[in-house]
Amino acid sequence: MTSTRASIFLSRTVPPAGRALLEPEFSIREWTGDGFITREALLQGVVGANALIVHPPDRVDKSVLDAAGSQLKVISTMSVGLEHIDIAECRRRGIAVGYTPGVLTETTAELTLALLLATSRRIKEGFKAVEKGIVGWQNGHWLCGKQINGCTVGIVGLGRIGLAVAKRLQPFGVAKFLYSGHSEKPGGAEIGATLVSFDELLRKSDFVVACCSMNEENKGLFNKDAFSKMKSDAIFINSSRGVLVNQEDLYDALKSGQIMAAGLDVTSPEPLPVDHQLKTLDSCVIFPHLGSATTDTRNVMAVTAAKNAIAGFKGQTLPSPVPL
Ligand code: DGY
Repeated sequence: MTSTRASIFLSRTVPPAGRALLEPEFSIREWTGDGFITREALLQGVVGANALIVHPPDRVDKSVLDAAGSQLKVISTMSVGLEHIDIAECRRRGIAVGYTPGVLTETTAELTLALLLATSRRIKEGFKAVEKGIVGWQNGHWLCGKQINGCTVGIVGLGRIGLAVAKRLQPFGVAKFLYSGHSEKPGGAEIGATLVSFDELLRKSDFVVACCSMNEENKGLFNKDAFSKMKSDAIFINSSRGVLVNQEDLYDALKSGQIMAAGLDVTSPEPLPVDHQLKTLDSCVIFPHLGSATTDTRNVMAVTAAKNAIAGFKGQTLPSPVPL
């Protein structure tokens, strides 16, 4: 017997708190394979769905919308990032789009601090030394890093996450916060940060922290030219999107000692190939996009995504709509 219930396709399993909301409303189909959903599985999975819950990097473009069919009412992404969805095309077709801003700010900021500490205190080398049973204490400089106290921190993109990072860094005794962006941000005054040009930020910061959202303009922003302007003991942190960085140029900058270290929660692609050259460097700490990965946050994201899907399917205003 064919089901007459509305159907939703999930491109990954949705954490329990969200799933519990979806179950009474939809017949659920989902991708449970290893890794990210394949393009083929996405194109097949969406067929006939009334609602979708997706995640970056699942590309939701015209082909996916065509494959889904005209009964598709809503796309709900369990992310704050929207670069994987063709918003203009959704708008043209009258498909509502929901996302999860705000709810992952704190966890992503915490994870960004983990990157700052891991790189500045040479934690990767420390782990390796413990695993290999090596001690170097006979050398007074063994594994000496750089302290945050007294440093200048430059935040590229003082939005929600950038501000949350800065607030967490204040108690570390940061001497100065700089930020760059198109205009002054209300948060700047809150943390006593100064708006400067991107170049000035690169030249003056001990830590350069990328927190900006990704757009066509800032792809490859952190390139050879940018790294050449940074201090020789600068640490570069990226918890935004991998495509902001020219990874070959980053490798060269680290390998040649042009900058001290880099901490990345995001890369391009994700995951990086096993033999990627950045992985060979002790000065490069790479996490597997863990920004929002806490149980509480993922459950809140799942609830937000589920509520967006349910409201969108019912033709109601989404609790967290992408402004169309
Ligand atoms: C987001 O919400 O955009 C996070 O980066 C997870 O993809």
